[in-house]
Amino acid sequence: MLSSSRVALLGAALTGLSLVCSVRGAVGGPSNYSFPDGFMFGVATAAYQIEGAWNEDGKGESMWDTFLHKHPDYTPDRSNADVAADSYHKYMDDVAMIKDLGVEYYRLSISWPRLLPNGTDNNISKAGVRYYRKLIKELQSANITPVVTLFHWDLPTPLMDLGGWANPIMVNYFRDYARVAFNLFGDVVKIWTTMNEPHQHCYNGYGSDYFAPAIKSHGVGEYLCIHYILLAHAAAYHLYDQEFRPNQKGKVGITLDAFWAKPKNNSKPEDIEAAERYLQMHVGLFAHPIYSKEGDYPDIARKRVDSISLHEGYTRSRLPTFSPEEVNALRGSSDFFGLNHYTTFLMSPSSWEKTWLIPSLDSDTGVKLEQDAKWIKPGAEWFSIYPQGFRKLINWVTNQYGKEIPIIITENGMSDFGGINDYLRVSYYNEYMAQMLMAIYEDGCNVQGYFAWTLMDDFEWKDGYVSKFGLYYVDFDSPEKTRTPKQSAINYREIVRTRRINFDFIKKPSPAQFNKL
Ligand SMILES: *[C@@H]1O[C@H](CO)[C@@H](O)[C@H](O)[C@H]1NC(C)=O
Ligand SMILES: *[C@@H]1O[C@H](CO)[C@@H](O)[C@H](O)[C@H]1NC(C)=O
Ligand SMILES: *[C@@H]1O[C@H](CO)[C@@H](O)[C@H](O)[C@H]1NC(C)=O
Ligand SMILES: *[C@@H]1O[C@H](CO)[C@@H](O)[C@H](O)[C@H]1NC(C)=O
Repeated sequence: MLSSSRVALLGAALTGLSLVCSVRGAVGGPSNYSFPDGFMFGVATAAYQIEGAWNEDGKGESMWDTFLHKHPDYTPDRSNADVAADSYHKYMDDVAMIKDLGVEYYRLSISWPRLLPNGTDNNISKAGVRYYRKLIKELQSANITPVVTLFHWDLPTPLMDLGGWANPIMVNYFRDYARVAFNLFGDVVKIWTTMNEPHQHCYNGYGSDYFAPAIKSHGVGEYLCIHYILLAHAAAYHLYDQEFRPNQKGKVGITLDAFWAKPKNNSKPEDIEAAERYLQMHVGLFAHPIYSKEGDYPDIARKRVDSISLHEGYTRSRLPTFSPEEVNALRGSSDFFGLNHYTTFLMSPSSWEKTWLIPSLDSDTGVKLEQDAKWIKPGAEWFSIYPQGFRKLINWVTNQYGKEIPIIITENGMSDFGGINDYLRVSYYNEYMAQMLMAIYEDGCNVQGYFAWTLMDDFEWKDGYVSKFGLYYVDFDSPEKTRTPKQSAINYREIVRTRRINFDFIKKPSPAQFNKL
């Protein structure tokens, strides 16, 4: 059972904290802002990226298992997540690490095929139930509140074989799965997110071949995926509302990803317009149906995809249409705004780029993405450091959808290729969290929680084990998958302990000292 004091804290964290934010600690700049009482500090992970044990104890295959076994060259290190950080066996170590960080929240995901080996609710795996029960119990005894994602990309293969999210029947299957999860774990789990980053999932997995399932149905598949993932989210939300909320009294939301879109040249109206168009067609496409007053896809997306489709000779728009009932079901179907943010791109208008597939969400949007060569690029190809973008993005979300909806940063973190002396990651966290504090105190944004991505090095999809995001280093060559805290873990623990950012707590060594490390 969840302790009643934690329930109270949670209630406070998800309701009117913004009033408190505007008066407390608001003097002296980011290093002097202290995080509000009740602010949720956490770390996040995802099942496929850490669990391993891909075929143990009757677990069914996920489409990532199937895809990577079929395409071993997909990752630069020819890796997959068959073993990963072995959290299926080492979850007690994980919980000890989370406790050591001092955070009170852990965002994890349930592997759908570990719970339902065939994806359907006629067959619930006892071993799967046992695993998540043990993990949640271990978290409880460490006083850590679980925040659970239902879908973090590892769709059961039998459902993928039916077309995955492009098939409308998935709305029902997702609702069935959500019911099983709410039934089994909802006595303890009080914060759920239905889907993780549906934009990345649909755009890269259905529109292109950058992520599994690599369908590359560009211009069509990504919109079907988006459409039915949104409806599946709404179905799970209303299921919770009707069958579980009265007793379980939890919260259900969704996690959306967003780059900040910075006009390439701030004096050019067409760049400003391009940046706004990008945000509407990438964040707004998901957020507008759920969080806006009027609901449905943003006007600009509706108009552009409709008219471009017609021009291309399609009988109907490649972007499906919601019925009035569906618009209503989606509108307001989230108790908080889960926001994942990593980096910023510079935006300018374009009618064609050689990297674009035609048609596609890219060509429908008509915006060219670049990064400033002056920004530090510490790891993955797509990743540059631009902390100011974080504050701008939080403000954009607030201005679009209002201050009433609590924002929870469900992921933020940095990619590199290195080990435990991750001084750049220390400063990334300091700088990004400082921007978040400014959004809270100087702009009045309603940010109520922050989850660092990620607890430990893991399987990073297309980048295999090459790109690292962990607060803990994992020695993937050791049979024990030994975990060691990085400098960034020590720094994050200090932020959580003092509830403020001390930019001098960990000093970056001089180049000469650094070379000796
Ligand atoms: C932070 O606050 C302390 C006292 O509350 C004050 O002495 C100090 O000057 C402040 N620092 C900054 C950078 O404003
Ligand atoms: C249920 O799942 C288990 C484990 O994957 C499998 O062995 C069994 O055949 C499944 N049962 C049914 C009825 O599909
Ligand atoms: C369920 O999955 C198991 C293995 O994961 C497989 O052996 C079995 O045939 C599946 N049953 C159905 C009905 O698909
Ligand atoms: C930005 O746009 C303005 C107005 O078009 C132009 O005068 C200026 O040269 C541009 N700056 C850069 C760096 O291109």
